Amino acid sequence: MFLYLNKNFLKAKTKQNFILLSITKQQYFMKKVLFFFLIILTHRSLIVAQTPVYLDENQPMEKRIEDALSRMTLEEKVAMCHAQSKFSSPGVPRLGIPENWMTDGPHGIRPEVAWDKWYQADWTNDSCIAFPALTCLAATWNTDMALLYGKSIGEEARYRNKNVLLGPGVNIYRTPLNGRNFEYMGEDPFLASRMVVPYVKGVQSNGVAACVKHFALNNQETERHNINVVVDDRALYEIYLPAFKAAVQKGNAWAIMGAYNKYKNQWCCHNQYLLNDILRGEWDFDGVVVSDWGGVHDTMQAIYNGLDMEFGTWTDGMSKSKTGGYNQYYLADSFLEKLRTGQVPVCELDKKVRNVLRLIYRTTMNSKRPWGAFGTEEHALAGRKIAAEGIVLLKNQDNVLPLITEKLKRILVVGDNAVRMMTVGGGSSSLKAKYEISPLDGIRKRVGDNIQVVYARGYRGPELKSYNGVLARQIPDDHRSDEELLKEACDEAKLADVIIFIGGLNKAERQDCESHDRRDLGLPYNQDELIIELCKANKNIVFVNISGNAVAMPWVKQVPAILQAWYSGTEAGNAIASILFGDVNPSGKLPFTFFEKLEDIGAHKLGDYPGINKEQTYRESIYVGYRWSDKENIKPLFSFGHGLSYTTFEYGEVKVDTCEMTKDEQITFTIEITNTGEEDGYETVQLYISDKKSSLPRPVKELKGFSKVFLKSGSSQSVTFTIDKESLSYFDDVQHKWIAEAGEFEALIGSSSTDIRSKINFYLQ
Ligand code: BGC
Repeated sequence: MFLYLNKNFLKAKTKQNFILLSITKQQYFMKKVLFFFLIILTHRSLIVAQTPVYLDENQPMEKRIEDALSRMTLEEKVAMCHAQSKFSSPGVPRLGIPENWMTDGPHGIRPEVAWDKWYQADWTNDSCIAFPALTCLAATWNTDMALLYGKSIGEEARYRNKNVLLGPGVNIYRTPLNGRNFEYMGEDPFLASRMVVPYVKGVQSNGVAACVKHFALNNQETERHNINVVVDDRALYEIYLPAFKAAVQKGNAWAIMGAYNKYKNQWCCHNQYLLNDILRGEWDFDGVVVSDWGGVHDTMQAIYNGLDMEFGTWTDGMSKSKTGGYNQYYLADSFLEKLRTGQVPVCELDKKVRNVLRLIYRTTMNSKRPWGAFGTEEHALAGRKIAAEGIVLLKNQDNVLPLITEKLKRILVVGDNAVRMMTVGGGSSSLKAKYEISPLDGIRKRVGDNIQVVYARGYRGPELKSYNGVLARQIPDDHRSDEELLKEACDEAKLADVIIFIGGLNKAERQDCESHDRRDLGLPYNQDELIIELCKANKNIVFVNISGNAVAMPWVKQVPAILQAWYSGTEAGNAIASILFGDVNPSGKLPFTFFEKLEDIGAHKLGDYPGINKEQTYRESIYVGYRWSDKENIKPLFSFGHGLSYTTFEYGEVKVDTCEMTKDEQITFTIEITNTGEEDGYETVQLYISDKKSSLPRPVKELKGFSKVFLKSGSSQSVTFTIDKESLSYFDDVQHKWIAEAGEFEALIGSSSTDIRSKINFYLQ
């Protein structure tokens, strides 16, 4: 523009030379200077018009947000606060501000559904890599695995143009009946906190927001839409909130999802205490609060109690979706009406829109974010690595495992779970996987043709042809009776060198599945009887439990080898086979306690689970999981932190750098670990802290550190743990703050919560 005008000016200057000659030299220069000023001014205004602040990536984000906000109409702003389809919300097309697209989460990218229907959109290019369930990830006790998981699933989300991944879930494992425990990270707030942070960071490194869910106290599925949770502040702050807090403060999560249930008689999706006081007030959360799908119940509360975006509301009043009814959402027309009539000030709307815009700037409007990748071999192998690291060897009497192929001629694989697809079912985390290796396929592939692998179903799980419109692998119709199935398995057992029983739960309703809890702790479909009968026929039996929850094992003494193999996604069968045959030395540790029976669990012993008059009181308070079994001296079936290896580890004596620390100091514990067996392997060394005397009751001990180390056979390594007063603190519910009380403490280092190998006392001044 500048050059163009200048050229014209010169042209004119030559043509009308006589005018120029008639003015003085000084006048000429003055004119020229003025002209250049004019040009610069025009030029500047052109630049500004081309790049408004809200689009200028060189401007600070908050400034861009304010600029965008100032350009939006009331209607455009309100539209941003609620869904426009099952999984999306509008941007501002007029301003070039993009839509938000959400996806489940948390184990893979959900297949596309129709705009306003839950059924599949029938895309042919949306088959994802299914990663292991989050319980499996937690069982790796390896933060590198959490980062790998987050990065990989984030890449899948990014490629599919989703800017919010609805996960991870970090609700605490309070009862093994919770149908959604498989989507969470176990019973311990410290373990869940450590594992959630890298997951969130990995996802967000792709310019995709992790939406941490379900905030908070969503610890059961039964009555999840109505139950009011009554919990004391100590349990809330010490047990149920830390993982969310870590995700927000250490992981810098960009989004959080409210839970379905109520707390203090307010639904959690619009809850003054959880969202305004704690999340925004105490933790300074600057991301966006998204409702769970259909979790909003009231316009005024949704306006004032911390919600930013409403999704999934059943528009005709808690039953079914009305096509195109998005304007009937609580944060849609009724919100607009209240703003228009002045019942609600616009600043309340602006608060929400700022959070939504911040989400958009961090994701879709970040031109530097990577492009992602989808369904790749790299992702499948990442899933396999995580799956293999998460499998827990619960029992291995007489070293039944690993199986030595040279010694085997005939393997009998029994169980419905050996062939059942586990990436479909279970609720909103259900996937359309690119492929899924079943345990039977994995075993067959691993042993090749030299060993005969015979399959007997043994028991029958429910028929599943498809789920949410995604086809499940067909298990051939089998009309034989239960007795016939059992007989076939037992007859085959007598002929086999080893039986691999692949059983457990599945993703059917009232198993590991959203919406309902399990009915009891026992294995379904008569598996107990089958296992007992098989043991009579052949003692060389390995039980592989596929589940996201603990199960009762009344036959535990009869079965020499037991593996906890979770839901492991696309590469499940290969991961299981790699452990069974010793290609990978198991290193998973339980992220929750396997109690023998329900009455051994605080929530069931004391509690009114699943609630009385739609109220659930957490009477066991802070005594969840091992905190309860420690306090009550209950011997669990398998302890929190337990997991065997094909090698053995010896622990030295723990040493401490100082016996007394002040509240501003740190303290370091060192212990030497030696691999005394013949295999190389990983050991997860666990640090628990015990407060010897305290003004408030405290758990016997609490996990405050862990370190997963790789040791070659015969080698040793020093493991150190450095902690500060945070690891010694409790939450004082009267003063409403964390207190590190002076006095004597004990550091306990071990291989599980009940296998403590060395202890040392120290003092806090
Ligand atoms: C679940 C959420 C999920 C959402 C969207 C809800 O029923 O509770 O975890 O993200 O649906 O599918």
